[in-house]
Amino acid sequence: MRKPIAAANWKMNGDFSLLDDFAQANITSDKCETIFALPSVLLDRAQKLGLNALAGQDVSAQVKGAFTGEISASMLKMLGCQYCIIGHSERRQYHYEDEALLIEKWRRLKEAEITPIYCIGELQAEYDAHATQQALERQLRPILEENLVDHKTIIAYEPVWAIGTGKAATPDYAQHVHQMIRQIVAQNYASIAPAMRLLYGGSVKPDNAGLLICQADIDGFLIGGASLDVGLFTKIIETMK
Ligand code: PGA
Repeated sequence: MRKPIAAANWKMNGDFSLLDDFAQANITSDKCETIFALPSVLLDRAQKLGLNALAGQDVSAQVKGAFTGEISASMLKMLGCQYCIIGHSERRQYHYEDEALLIEKWRRLKEAEITPIYCIGELQAEYDAHATQQALERQLRPILEENLVDHKTIIAYEPVWAIGTGKAATPDYAQHVHQMIRQIVAQNYASIAPAMRLLYGGSVKPDNAGLLICQADIDGFLIGGASLDVGLFTKIIETMK
């Protein structure tokens, strides 16, 4: 049984007041797990307010030391994070992160017993060229070969062309790709793949969440824009039964 996940990714948005609104709303559901990937400066307050579960949006590939601006896995742990996003397309695109670096980040998370939410997804040009499978294999294979995946691992499929564009993948297309991802994972991890939770991300809103969550291989969402609004986030959670 794969319990659905509603994961909020606030990116570089939000402040104390928004955090307080979410804490006050006390969004809980027995139907799904909620995860809040917050800017790191909000995590301490979020932990004190009892918001849960918490996630980092990124982690350093280094353990500690002279790495100005970086945040280590053990720091995220100290702030109560059970999860951490790695490989988000914005990190890949603007910070040139590649699989070799992400493997190191994954290792740091594993050492700190933090579960990675590993993001993958094709660019618009790859989608147009029908090269989605190659793009996903390129992002997945090096990870799968490192023996890092375990039964808690979460993969988020986020087609880059759908992020922040209002143009979500259709339920059929998202299901097709999720099934493909599960099959790719199964080639290395036959017993883990059927139980692994695969999230869809990219313009998830209350009006498209219902049909997406009905798909057999979609186990929840990674939500950007709509996770900054208590009402919208709550409505998305209500689609999970
Ligand atoms: P979006 O972002 O919901 O605003 O499209 C999703 C994400 O980047 O995680």
